[in-house]
Amino acid sequence: MSEQDRVRWDARYATSAAEPEGGPPPVFAAHVAEFPTAGTALDIACGQGAASFWLAQHGLDVLGVDVSAVAIATARAQAQRLGVTGRCRFAVADLDDGLPAGPLVDVILCHRFRDARLDRAVVSRLVPGGLLAICVLSEVGGSPGPFRARPGELTTAFADLDVIAAGEGDGQAWLLGRRR
Ligand SMILES: C[S@@+](CC[C@H](N)C(=O)[O-])C[C@H]1O[C@@H](n2cnc3c(N)ncnc32)[C@H](O)[C@@H]1O
Repeated sequence: MSEQDRVRWDARYATSAAEPEGGPPPVFAAHVAEFPTAGTALDIACGQGAASFWLAQHGLDVLGVDVSAVAIATARAQAQRLGVTGRCRFAVADLDDGLPAGPLVDVILCHRFRDARLDRAVVSRLVPGGLLAICVLSEVGGSPGPFRARPGELTTAFADLDVIAAGEGDGQAWLLGRRR
């Protein structure tokens, strides 16, 4: 990512330390039973870590990564406050360079971040039966834009997963699927 974009994200997070609401991203709330209660998870572009905290509280060992060092510092501080540091690690990483190296994981969560260049690496990083939970901005019910998924983009991109549920509308697209 460009230095200018990174500075912009850092500035945004420097003025907004969000209090985590304590549940999964709302779009996945009806599908909590699909998430394992043990194993490992990777939270891509985790921001201040809200979804990572939920995954940790759900029983998973989580690595959250984001390009913003400010967001990651806030996530680490929140993890201390919530008492989940044993289950939650955070790292600064620029996903323009690909996924950070690491072992296969049981869950990959990607909430409100889209980089189609990562799609194959994301699928390959899951154990067989592993769960992808992805939610991105969409052109469907929203305006066109460079970071918005086109109609049907997620179901096409992840057609090789066993799709559990998916939807798009109101400017949002999401998909839950398992690696075969
Ligand atoms: C809309 S926020 C979503 C954050 C979080 N997943 C959430 O739902 O609250 C998008 C996030 O993507 C991160 N991001 C953008 N480009 C990135 C990149 N190239 N590498 C890693 N993170 C990136 C930003 O820093 C920001 O935290």
